[in-house]
Amino acid sequence: MLRGGIDIKKAAAIITRGGIAAFPTETVYGLGGDATNPKAVAQIYNAKGRPGDNPLILHIADPDDLYKLTDSPPAYAKALSDAFWPGPLTMVFNKKLDLPTWLGGHPSGTTKTIGIRMPSHPIALELIRVSGCFVAAPSANKAGTPSPTKAEHVIADFADGSIDYVLDGGLVEVGVESTVVDVTGSTPIILRPGAITAHMIAKVTGIMPQGSFSSKTAPRAPGMKYRHYAPKAPMTLLVGNDSDIAKYISLYIDKNKKTGLLITADVEALFDSFNNNSPTPYLLPLGHTQEIIAQNLYDNLRQFDRLGVDIIYAQAPNEEGIGTAILDRMKKAAEGRVIHA
Ligand code: TXA
Ligand code: MG
Repeated sequence: MLRGGIDIKKAAAIITRGGIAAFPTETVYGLGGDATNPKAVAQIYNAKGRPGDNPLILHIADPDDLYKLTDSPPAYAKALSDAFWPGPLTMVFNKKLDLPTWLGGHPSGTTKTIGIRMPSHPIALELIRVSGCFVAAPSANKAGTPSPTKAEHVIADFADGSIDYVLDGGLVEVGVESTVVDVTGSTPIILRPGAITAHMIAKVTGIMPQGSFSSKTAPRAPGMKYRHYAPKAPMTLLVGNDSDIAKYISLYIDKNKKTGLLITADVEALFDSFNNNSPTPYLLPLGHTQEIIAQNLYDNLRQFDRLGVDIIYAQAPNEEGIGTAILDRMKKAAEGRVIHA
């Protein structure tokens, strides 16, 4: 049986000998293996059930290791690594030509670019240092389930024994995956929004990044085209002010369905007054700051799975700061079901 623990040396030894160990980062838990070992990398893809055309992020513990993987990154990328590494930022570079053509992706394929990130979580940094290799790590969930923000989420997804160990660091700090930025051109392009926002990138580089994560444009990060982050029950995202959302839920809630609600205490208070006769829904509080909403989002979605609800309504947060990333994940979880209440 897969168990969590706090033995960094053990996890590093597993990675060094070609096995897979999950570990906490500040964003979400990662499924770590030696990025230069094709067997380990193939095992990551197998364990996760990830399509081979979706590349992996390589994790480093020393910012200068970047230069082992890429030649002459643009000046603005250096500014970004100085400002945000270690931290929740992944940059996609052109890969050095003398590296294995598959490195950064599935061993049976080829990639020209490579995603690199230096995480800030002390356990992650220590693990990478002791492992002594580039640690390839996708989020430590099965493809299609919400990313793990607690060790128990990893254990739930990999009860099949397809990974060797989980380092337990408790609840992560950020809660949504890193911002992914393509830095192969003259302008940074945000492939996946995260805690490092477009505004923060513009401030540091003097260049407003392009964003291609909108639902209207074709996906640029291969991972963005797959079904993602979804709880088991269908979820609908509710956009609007508190009283309109409360009214919508009261009017349209189906009393024959086990309903999960992810709403703020303010909406809950209004909702009570609208809704005296309905059965009690399963209510999880949407936090009052963007940071708390992000930190708990995936745990909330997984709780709805455990409660076995039939249908979920989630309140959309403001789009400021990390709100862009939260909304992006919520929209994906809702698979396009968005209602303007
Ligand atoms: O916060 C995170 O980034 C977490 C922690 C563990 O570091 N990792 C993570 O990995 O979220 P993953 O594999 O679940 O998501 C990586 C995303 C995918 O959408 C993938 O397509 C994209 O980054 N990506 C990776 N390498 C890329 C590349 N060379 N070019 C374009 N997109 C890339
Ligand atoms: Mg993922």
